[in-house]
Amino acid sequence: MCGIVGAIRNQGPVLAGLVEGLRVLEYRGYDSAGVAVSDEGKIKSAKRQGRLDNLEARLTDSSLENGVAGIGHTRWATHGPPSDENAHPHLGASGCVALVHNGIIENWAELKGELLADGVRFVSDTDTEVLAHLIDRERADASDLSDAVRRALRRVSGYYALAVLAETGDGPELVCARQGPPLAVAFVDDAAYLASDVLGILPHTREISFLEDGDVAVLRPGDVQITDFGGKSVVRPAQAIDWDPEDTGKGGWPHYMLKEIHEQPDVLARTIQGRIDDEAADVVFEDGAFANDAVRDVARIQVIACGTALHAGYIARYLIEGLGGVPVDVDYASEFRYRGPRIVPGTMALAISQSGETADTLAATRLARELGASVGAICNVAGSSQVRESDHVILTHAGPEIGVASTKAFTAQVAAVTLLAVRLGRARGTLSKEDASAILNELKLLRTRIESMLGEHAVDHVRRVAQSHAEQRGFLFLGRGINYPVALEGALKLKEISYMHAEGYPAGEMKHGPIALIDPGMTIVSVSSTGPLAEKVRANIEQVKARGGVVLSVGSDPESHAIAGQSLEVPASSEWLSPILNTVPLQLLSYAIADMRGCDIDKPRNLAKSVTVE
Ligand code: AGP
Repeated sequence: MCGIVGAIRNQGPVLAGLVEGLRVLEYRGYDSAGVAVSDEGKIKSAKRQGRLDNLEARLTDSSLENGVAGIGHTRWATHGPPSDENAHPHLGASGCVALVHNGIIENWAELKGELLADGVRFVSDTDTEVLAHLIDRERADASDLSDAVRRALRRVSGYYALAVLAETGDGPELVCARQGPPLAVAFVDDAAYLASDVLGILPHTREISFLEDGDVAVLRPGDVQITDFGGKSVVRPAQAIDWDPEDTGKGGWPHYMLKEIHEQPDVLARTIQGRIDDEAADVVFEDGAFANDAVRDVARIQVIACGTALHAGYIARYLIEGLGGVPVDVDYASEFRYRGPRIVPGTMALAISQSGETADTLAATRLARELGASVGAICNVAGSSQVRESDHVILTHAGPEIGVASTKAFTAQVAAVTLLAVRLGRARGTLSKEDASAILNELKLLRTRIESMLGEHAVDHVRRVAQSHAEQRGFLFLGRGINYPVALEGALKLKEISYMHAEGYPAGEMKHGPIALIDPGMTIVSVSSTGPLAEKVRANIEQVKARGGVVLSVGSDPESHAIAGQSLEVPASSEWLSPILNTVPLQLLSYAIADMRGCDIDKPRNLAKSVTVE
């Protein structure tokens, strides 16, 4: 998804900081990049299709290095293909206004027709350029740039995060506005900053404010003033963000994804830390989240999420129904919001989202609230829209996840859901103190158990196994019960970063169709544990082997491994904790295969880290 940065300083050039900020946001996925600065009473800009390196090559011979105010953008194309002309920033006809934008201007065609009739010339195919000309035109009657932005936005329908830089000879003006995709702002003594992601501001300060929908912010060195679209002043208190900017570096790892796989022992320890009450064999979340009075009468839980987070939601169904005693429905956010859902009284919507800015999940959660549901969230980004719009929040403390393919955030989500299931079970009396204590103690063992799977020997074994699958025609990931969603996640991880075809299926469904796929070119990955369904999984493996199929058994069941002939072994655990443990070798398998195939593991083609538009 598009990345936006902006800065205005009392003195000293902003260009290097803008480019550095865009580099930090690269992980969000993009196909072109550009910057604009205000220098000596003029707006100067440069933009290029492709990676940031292309832009930096263009900047070396440019005159942008002296500007004291500027904006930057990495574009993930929605309207108009990736090209130099369609890259942001876009300039208004006067040449005194530059704009960058994340989102979609839905009535862009009508507005463009008006502007064309007024004689405005367009140089791109984008909806964004329409907004640049609109704001430029409104400046004639506006008191200042923020007034012109508010006037223009009253004409616009759609959703956007935007930053506008204007230079009229009296010094630069820097304004940003939000309706949908996120925007953060901050200031220090001699400067002010904006970005679509806290990581773009963290190198300058940890005290960061998050704009709400309808906010317009004016940035000046040492100050940020925020109003609503009507011009009324609003306050957005700064939050202290405890992420370490160092965390956004690769730290010597070949890829962020591998670094983040190896961070999981610490991440899981951080996610459960301080939340287990050993004495009561219960769970305590911050700010009274999911306390007894809030959960005792919950009639149903409606999980809403996308992608990997949805797989955590499917696992949540097994855990919450099994331990918490609450009926659970799970749905793709993009389906839930349009299928005319029925919400029974006493429903809690549970949004699961790493970024907390996924447009479909936010919209679906808002719909659930409109239909009478209370709202809970499991999220990785404090201050994100999902967090701010939820009644009960569990943060996953995974730190910034830079690799587009989610790893540590997923296992942290599942750990958080396990804690929530215990909380619900204890609040509603469906989980005994002894059973709760056993699960909580196993959660504490995750760190050492996962560390044992990330040792050099274990990782080398995964690579050796991966070699015999790196050229397969396709993969079928099979799992039963609480490990069925793990099969879905394993398939998604592989297809995301290796571009190979892979699908996840309930193992019991194999004979209802997928069994036709079995041949030596198709690898069947069987995900299991030693739980009550182990016998049935072994039978599935036998069925595949009997048809000459290739089976890779993943999990803690030695009998499954023996039948399969090749395996990725996982430490034994309770069935409830097996999804987290089984996920780790699947992450390593996908990483190894993608690495062997020379894929762009951290920034897979066409993918964005946070999909903040529909
Ligand atoms: C994760 O590997 C994927 N890149 C993607 O499916 C992601 O899980 C999905 O877009 C949801 O994102 P969120 O967790 O930030 O809401």
